[in-house]
Amino acid sequence: MEPRLCVIPGDGIGQEVVPVAVQVLRTVLPEVRYERAEAGWECFRSRGVAVPPETLDAVRRCGAALFGATASPGRVVPGYRSAILTLRQQLGLYANIRPAASTAGFSPRTGVDLVVVRENTEDLYVGRETRSGDVAVAERVISATASRRIARVALRIADTRGAKKLTIVHKANVLPVTDGLFRDSVREVVAGWDGPSAGIEVEETYVDVAALRMVGAPESFDVVVTTNLFGDILSDAAAHWSGGLGVAPSLNLGDGVAIAEPVHGSAPDIAGTGAANPAAAILSVAMLLEHVWERPDLARRVTHAVGSALAGGVHPPVLSSVRDTVLHLLESSDGGTS
Ligand code: NAI
Ligand code: MG
Repeated sequence: MEPRLCVIPGDGIGQEVVPVAVQVLRTVLPEVRYERAEAGWECFRSRGVAVPPETLDAVRRCGAALFGATASPGRVVPGYRSAILTLRQQLGLYANIRPAASTAGFSPRTGVDLVVVRENTEDLYVGRETRSGDVAVAERVISATASRRIARVALRIADTRGAKKLTIVHKANVLPVTDGLFRDSVREVVAGWDGPSAGIEVEETYVDVAALRMVGAPESFDVVVTTNLFGDILSDAAAHWSGGLGVAPSLNLGDGVAIAEPVHGSAPDIAGTGAANPAAAILSVAMLLEHVWERPDLARRVTHAVGSALAGGVHPPVLSSVRDTVLHLLESSDGGTS
């Protein structure tokens, strides 16, 4: 069956970078069929719902989506909930995969090549907060099922990367019940793994030490598996080493459904100026090629073309500069692989 993509540009620069990523995808995989759908703050303002039911249906039908960005009002608005959080929860997107790799000539450091595999449904993000007078409490939910499930995703990625090391990040010294359960569940899956990365070096690191290493020695990581909040923070720090939010891709993965999404938001400060870097959105499409459509060859071509475009120097306006170079490399006879 031909691959299908649900295209959800969303708000702000999502409207600018998503069309570029789609153009790139059309170049390398012309047989993809597209459906367009709405979600986000503008959608809420015009229709009263941030993720309309037909958007959920479209993503389910296609099995894959590219989401640009959502803006948020920055204040409590009755009836509004973040579009991307709604999509993750409604579609059961339990894994968030966030790679960070150096590009020579562009990134602030060479030698970084890591992926943060973050549990995407639990932890403090279940959003159960209560307040009683002076005290506010947030519930932190960790289950063995979700922890084992994210461990399997991390090990499958380790298998295909030919990874040398798996780092389990937790804080079980302070949170022995919740993070102890996470750690033990991951350990259990690792012990029983019979894929190519069986026997891989496994280390455990408390999240504070992991943060220090992410800043001081990012090349010491390969595959990192962790809980939702720790993964959110560590992966943003990791994104710094690849060159910032403009080049940081991610993939939200569930069973039979996935949403690729640049890590950045709607960037109202640069929206409409042509200054948005489309690399993060293009690399997010490359993640669909690799993890969903099983075309790692095309994923490599796209990633390589983006790397060459960034290394060759990015000039204002960044959006068209990166777009034109990437398309040129992919259309040239060597396929951007030279
Ligand atoms: P942001 O990611 O939109 O922007 C942070 C900074 O990075 C800004 O200076 C922006 O210009 C720059 N930047 C972001 N993407 C870029 C790109 N592709 N090329 C060049 N520069 C880029 O985060 P911010 O400003 O905190 O939030 C803006 C809005 O986006 C808020 O409403 C926030 O809630 C929302 N947001 C949505 C996310 C999502 O859709 N997953 C994630 C983060 C924020
Ligand atoms: Mg974040």
